[in-house]
Amino acid sequence: MDLEAALRAQAQACAALGSPMYADLLGRVADAVAAGGRAAAPFTRVLAGYEDASGPSGLALRLAGSVHRLVLERRAGALAAYYPSVGGTWEPEGCWAAFVGLVADEPDAVREWLDRPPQTNEVGRSAALTAGLLEVTRATGLPVRLVEIGSSGGLNLLADRFCYVDEHGRVHGDEASPVRLDGAWTGPGPWTDGTDGRPAVWPTVVERTGSDVRPVDVTTTAGRLALTAYVWPDMTARHERLRGALRLAAETPVTVRTQGAGDLVDGLAPVEGTVTVLWHSVMWQYLDRDEQERVLARLDDVGAQATPGAPLAHLSLEPRRRRRDDDHAFWLVLRTWPGGETRFLARSRGHGVPVDWVDGTAG
Ligand SMILES: C[S@@+](CC[C@H](N)C(=O)[O-])C[C@H]1O[C@@H](n2cnc3c(N)ncnc32)[C@H](O)[C@@H]1O
Repeated sequence: MDLEAALRAQAQACAALGSPMYADLLGRVADAVAAGGRAAAPFTRVLAGYEDASGPSGLALRLAGSVHRLVLERRAGALAAYYPSVGGTWEPEGCWAAFVGLVADEPDAVREWLDRPPQTNEVGRSAALTAGLLEVTRATGLPVRLVEIGSSGGLNLLADRFCYVDEHGRVHGDEASPVRLDGAWTGPGPWTDGTDGRPAVWPTVVERTGSDVRPVDVTTTAGRLALTAYVWPDMTARHERLRGALRLAAETPVTVRTQGAGDLVDGLAPVEGTVTVLWHSVMWQYLDRDEQERVLARLDDVGAQATPGAPLAHLSLEPRRRRRDDDHAFWLVLRTWPGGETRFLARSRGHGVPVDWVDGTAG
């Protein structure tokens, strides 16, 4: 894909996912590149050498993230006034003029982060993961050993400490939590106990283990800055929940090991009196086929050792098809052992909220 097409594709994705600001900015960068000459010059200069970065870590998001980082560090001059993430107000013409000005005047600063693949840790995905955890708790009644692959900063390992508000305005989890996910859940899910709407028994997490090939240390300024810079500046709800989760993580740090998914599951084993939950969100696509098969085969082996007193659950929130002819969607899928039954529990959005509970056994 050429540079202009890549920028336009990302602009469209930003529009679809709720960032009119990035949709506009990246669309204008694409227009400038297409126009060539003086309009294109600041961008072709700053992006030189990176034109082939593609896919999920593509150049458009590297550029946008690098500029956002300068805004967050108060190194972006007039541009900050247009960035809602630092209290500014987005206005398309002024923002574009200041954006071009920064890229033209500070190319070296903008280039500092172009060699990094964007890295996020989307706290909203906890809405789906926690709904699955509630189902596991309902079914087993056991305390949870939570194990995550592709944890990034490990923020979703604190999911049981967030506050969730369902479609009826009922509050679940920790009402005093700095993370509040409004409109998190719709449908007849496991967050209520039967028809009277009483809240279900909340999961008790007794152990948390995270892993990632490139973990982000959220106890450092650099780690917090990285996770913040890649959240789109006009998505204020995402910024709020990230800020809240970073506060929680500062009080109760969760260690994320530097370890690939395959290596982590090698060490997995059921433990009597607990349910072991291996979960992950939006990371499966980064594993090569061999590592995917290795993780699944290991789960089958560990599942074969599972008993009703030491069960195993595999909970995933990943883009996938439910049936061959379906479009891809973000599905929360639960596999449980003993037995190895698979259920498609819920659908969510890319950034997690809201989660629509559907439940069903795999066909
Ligand atoms: C899009 S992020 C999602 C992070 C987090 N799960 C979330 O939902 O916010 C994907 C993560 O997978 C990690 N990753 C990529 N390849 C991996 C591998 N082979 N084993 C473990 N983690 C991997 C990346 O470093 C990155 O942190």
